[in-house]
Amino acid sequence: MKARIAVLPGDGIGPEIVPQAVQILEAVAAQYGHTFEFHAADVGGAAIDKTGGPLPEETLKLAKESDAILLGAVGGTNWDGLVYEVRPERALLGLRERLGLYANLRPAKLYPILADASTLKPEVITGTDLLVVRELTGGIYFGKPKGIKKTADGERGVNTEVYTTAEIVRIAKVAFESARKRRKKVTSVDKANVLESSALWRRVVLDVAKGYPDVELEHLYVDNCAMQLIRNPRQFDVLVTTNLFGDILSDEAAMLTGSIGMLPSASLGSRVGAGGPVGLYEPIHGSAPDIAGRDLANPIGTIASAAMMLSYSFNLDKEAAAVERGIVRVLEQGYRTKDIRSPRAKVGAGGAPRVPVAPSNATGDGPPPEIIVGTKEMGRLIRQALTKA
Ligand code: IPM
Ligand code: MN
Repeated sequence: MKARIAVLPGDGIGPEIVPQAVQILEAVAAQYGHTFEFHAADVGGAAIDKTGGPLPEETLKLAKESDAILLGAVGGTNWDGLVYEVRPERALLGLRERLGLYANLRPAKLYPILADASTLKPEVITGTDLLVVRELTGGIYFGKPKGIKKTADGERGVNTEVYTTAEIVRIAKVAFESARKRRKKVTSVDKANVLESSALWRRVVLDVAKGYPDVELEHLYVDNCAMQLIRNPRQFDVLVTTNLFGDILSDEAAMLTGSIGMLPSASLGSRVGAGGPVGLYEPIHGSAPDIAGRDLANPIGTIASAAMMLSYSFNLDKEAAAVERGIVRVLEQGYRTKDIRSPRAKVGAGGAPRVPVAPSNATGDGPPPEIIVGTKEMGRLIRQALTKA
C-alpha cells in the first residue's frame, strides 16, 4: 500500500523520539513492500519560534492532506509565559478540533517483563490491560463561555463543561466497538452525582448500550475510578470518559505500566468537511525538556504509536503486531532506557552489561541482566528485532 504521513516532531524530546518511529515505519515499508511518504512540518514551540504561532496554516494543510499524522510532543519552559491562545499546547488542541479527532484511544498494557519497573507493587499491576477511550474535542477543554474577566472585586476565570447527546453517542460507540474486540466490558466514568453534564453522559451511554447487549456496562464516579485503578486495575477493560477526566486517568493508568514513556495513543475522527477518517498518533507523555537533547528519552511510546497507526489507519495488523513483538523481544533481552529500569536492579556504568535483576535460580534461567541504552540504540534494537521477526 501507499500512504502519506505527516511528521510533526515538535519540542523537547519530540525531535529525538519521532525519527526512531519513522525509521521503524521505513523498516516495515521495506520489509512488507509498502510505500510510505513522509512530510515533516513544525508544530508547537518550534513553530512559534519560526512563524509566531503554534499551528501554522502550512502544518494544518499538510495534516489535512495526509493519511495519518505522527506527532512527538509540544511545550517547554521557553513558551510557558505566553497567553493561552498562542501556547504550544494550542497546536494539539487546534489539530484535534480542526481535524475532528474526537476519539482518543490510550491503551495501557503492562509488559510482564516490566512489572518491576513500576512504583506500584508487581502483584497489583500484573495483568493490567486496559484501554482509555477519552472524548477529545468537547467538554471543558472547548466549552464556552471561557476566559478571564476583570470584575469589580478582582478577576473571574471561567471554563464550561458541556456535552451534547451527539458527542456522547459517538464516543460511546467507539468504546463499545472497541470492547467487542477485547474483553467485552465498558466502564463509563463520570461525576453524575454532582454534574448535570455527567447526568446526561450517563443517560446517553445507557441508551447506546442497548445496541450492544453482548457488552457489559458499568458506571463509576471519577473519584472512585481513580482509586480503583490503583487498587485493582485488572477489573478494567475499556474505560470511556470525558476530555478532562480522560486526561487525568490516562496519566494515572500509565503508571500501571511502569513508565509514561511506554504509552502510545491514537486520536481518531472523521475529517471535518470532505474526506474520510483521519488519525493522529503520538505518545501520551510530554516534551520532557529536562532530558531533551541527551539521548535519554524512551522512544517506545512513539514506536508503539506508529504500530497503532499501522493498524488503525492502514489496516496493517500483521505489520503492527510485528512492531509490538519487536518491542517485547528487546525488553526481554534486558534492554532498558533509564525510565524503565528496575529500581531493584544494580546499575552498571555506561550501559555495560550489569548484574542480574534477581539472583539466577538453580537452572540459571532468571531474568537477563538489564542493559541501559539511549534513545537511538533502543530504536535500532527494535528495528533489528523487527527484521529478524
Ligand atoms: C495530553 C496532554 C494535552 C491534553 C495537553 C498538552 C494539551 O496533556 O494529550 O494528554 O491536556 O490533552
Ligand atoms: Mn495529558
